[in-house]
Amino acid sequence: MKDGAVFTTVESLQSRLKSSSSSTETALVPTMGALHDGHLDLVRKALEITDQVVVSIFVNPTQFNSKEDLENYPRTLENDLKLLESVGKVIVFAPTVEEMYPPDFEKIKIDLGDIANVMEGKFRPGHFEGVVNVVHRFFQIISPNYALFGEKDFQQLAVIQRMVEEMRLSVQIIPCQTIREVSGLARSSRNQRLTELQKEQALVIVETMNYANQNKGELTPIELKNLAIDYFNQGELELEYLDIVDAKTLQSLNEWNSDSRICIAAYCGEVRLIDNMEIN
Ligand code: PAJ
Repeated sequence: MKDGAVFTTVESLQSRLKSSSSSTETALVPTMGALHDGHLDLVRKALEITDQVVVSIFVNPTQFNSKEDLENYPRTLENDLKLLESVGKVIVFAPTVEEMYPPDFEKIKIDLGDIANVMEGKFRPGHFEGVVNVVHRFFQIISPNYALFGEKDFQQLAVIQRMVEEMRLSVQIIPCQTIREVSGLARSSRNQRLTELQKEQALVIVETMNYANQNKGELTPIELKNLAIDYFNQGELELEYLDIVDAKTLQSLNEWNSDSRICIAAYCGEVRLIDNMEIN
């Protein structure tokens, strides 16, 4: 990637964006780097929408609720730039923490409601507050017409959509489906920290979600959830939560509706993995 396409300051990025014609639409793909095919798929989709795509690469400290997780998060900027170059021409924004959070930075005040109190919100206190604040800051800096997010982080997508509605932001959120390895394992930057054996063990996540889909039959959501938990626990991972939820409200389902989702978070050794799937 040519040096000119990587911006590290807000000022330089904004002056680059201002140099485009006023009719040019901008799409944003926010990432924390350690890019993989899931991220690249978002970038490809963004390039189908518009020529002006900003990919942000920023490991956001405020959304980590464990110092170790933040420290161990993979940082592979050079390789990320190579991968992006292979996909097409994009503008990379890779700011420092100081650039993102200047002394006069003010947190947004927003009530995310129940959607942010369950699952990831429950097990990672403060996580979504960090996510909405960093994404909002990117929106302020870049003023994108579109922002693309993966369904891999289903609750994050719902929370961002909620922020956009609540704050009446003019950006259009584009959800993109989860990209998986051939084995079925959802692509994740954290997979880099798994051994080959752990990658095999981690397949219990996708297998459990498929199992739930195949065994729905006449079961209630709660019965299916318990069956899926039993199945999952035959594997080697340590379950943090498994729930079957309403895809809109993200609350546990008592009765089936037309849009339900199974969501799982589990530890594979030290590495925390999440995944989700539609239940048909
Ligand atoms: P990160 O985990 O790097 O993910 C960046 C984007 O890529 C998110 O929208 C995520 O849902 C999407 N993504 C990750 N793995 C994917 C996969 N296998 N298939 C499809 N999409 C995938 O999510 C974050 O970063 C951060 O919270 C961020 C939004 C950048 C705010 O800091």
